[in-house]
Amino acid sequence: MIKVLFFGDIVGRIGRDYFLQQFPELKKKYKPDLIIVNGENSANGKGITSKICSTYFNAGVTCITTGNHLFDNREIISNIDDFPALIRPLNYSPQVPGNTVFKTTINGISVAVVNLLGQVFMPPIDNPFVAMENLLQDELSDSQVIIADLHAEATSEKRAFGVNFAGRVSAVLGTHTHVQTADAEIIDGHTGYLTDVGMVGAKNSILGMESEAIIRKFLTQMPERFAPPEADSQMQMDFVYLEISATGQTTKIVSEHLVNTV
Ligand SMILES: [Fe+2]
Ligand SMILES: [Fe+2]
Repeated sequence: MIKVLFFGDIVGRIGRDYFLQQFPELKKKYKPDLIIVNGENSANGKGITSKICSTYFNAGVTCITTGNHLFDNREIISNIDDFPALIRPLNYSPQVPGNTVFKTTINGISVAVVNLLGQVFMPPIDNPFVAMENLLQDELSDSQVIIADLHAEATSEKRAFGVNFAGRVSAVLGTHTHVQTADAEIIDGHTGYLTDVGMVGAKNSILGMESEAIIRKFLTQMPERFAPPEADSQMQMDFVYLEISATGQTTKIVSEHLVNTV
């Protein structure tokens, strides 16, 4: 059996600092064998840098998943190959740099993590269902545990992906909306599923970013610069805990949406 902690999109310095501060306690409590964070908003809300990747890995993170904001901070483009445990969405064009599948062995169990982008209300991208299907036939055919982060906007697309791959992957966890859904379940008694894990970041914000500029944008449609707040009196920590058997079956899934006054 392996125990997994998966954290929703970590937003900005404020989210990173809070994650790193809370992480040792959570590690003590859950004793995870595999720790995954979605890092696409780590660098000021837009992308991730090599330095931030190193910080996460040094803290004990096993694998970083990403999403549509991965390359917003261009520094990572030339350095992405230094981080095989940072994975980019599988269904980008093959020319896009970066590793697409993270594989490891934990307690003698072969484990794979994959990250995909949704197509609905998102920039154009290859079909994630087809990409996952091909991967299962090929590169993942020998993996006992498979965890997929489907980074997507539409609940329907994420749910359809979860139901479609139920029994064939161990867990389908949605990210991107930064709002945790309350629908954690084990589909067909096998596949751990949560439509969206949520985020780690400032609570008094809009999805982890300062509210004022976002509201102005909705009011005027004029260009605005979005950034996470530098400080907040409350922090949000969204994650999911899973227990997965050697046969790849999720036996327990618990979603957590913690809001703490700091
Ligand atoms: Fe995000
Ligand atoms: Fe995203």
